[in-house]
Amino acid sequence: MEEIGYFTEENSVDTVNARMGAGVNPRLAQVMASLVRHLHSFARDVELTQQEWEYAIGFLTRTGQICSAERQEFILLSDTLGLSMLVDAINNRRPDGATENTVFGPFHVEGAPVRQMGDLICFDGKGESCLFQGRVLDLQGKPIEGARIDVWSDNADGYYDVQQPDIQPKWNNRGVFITGADGCYSFVGIKPVSYPIPDDGPVGEMLAHLGRHPYRPAHMHYMIRAEGFQKLVTHTFVGGDDYLVSDAVFGVKKSLVAPFEKAESGKTLWRSDFDFVLARPTETK
Ligand code: BEZ
Ligand code: FE
Repeated sequence: MEEIGYFTEENSVDTVNARMGAGVNPRLAQVMASLVRHLHSFARDVELTQQEWEYAIGFLTRTGQICSAERQEFILLSDTLGLSMLVDAINNRRPDGATENTVFGPFHVEGAPVRQMGDLICFDGKGESCLFQGRVLDLQGKPIEGARIDVWSDNADGYYDVQQPDIQPKWNNRGVFITGADGCYSFVGIKPVSYPIPDDGPVGEMLAHLGRHPYRPAHMHYMIRAEGFQKLVTHTFVGGDDYLVSDAVFGVKKSLVAPFEKAESGKTLWRSDFDFVLARPTETK
């Protein structure tokens, strides 16, 4: 008869999980027991070799070592494995009609300047100008006053200002806009361009081994916060972009592909109209 406590190939999950003490936080116990179950099942499924396990440890070690205040390789790993988008989906189930969330990404900076509606956010003189405009509405179609719209995009060379602090002006292609009673927003940026996620580290190595490219389709980031509503973290994507169906981080949702049309006003080259619909905390799927 098997003795409890001695580890065998067959009883590995039960032996590890039985070691948990009494009084462990119930949620922690649930999460860790499941993690152990799935990890052991994975190793069994692929009959993980010692060499492969050592490679994985080395990979995770390098992933940690390349992290800094400016670079979070573990989040990038989670993004490229689709885990970030899955966690986002689980935690942001919204009714039909509400704007969908997508991945936050590593390039948001808190504290961007609050600007007036219609203001310019591009200060490096590069790229094709684009008027972004629309409304922030509730699910009943009513305008939301006082919504704080934080926007950010790459520049025409495919880099965020924080990736090129010595090259781009501070707050280039970023800004915060606060809606009035009509719920309307408008600002002038550039038509974003597709760009590769940072691929000079372990995540780039993984993508190359898997025959995957590192590109994201062109997009404008939005984070919209309004009192009494769920926070919306999303993008609008440039319709027709080559990478819409192969985004390196799986962030594209069909409902977020926006029209980018040649503008008739002559003030900007392009215009992109998009309404955002926020759900209240009780309005879930
Ligand atoms: C971004 O869109 O800024 C982004 C998202 C995930 C990983 C890297 C970049
Ligand atoms: Fe981005």
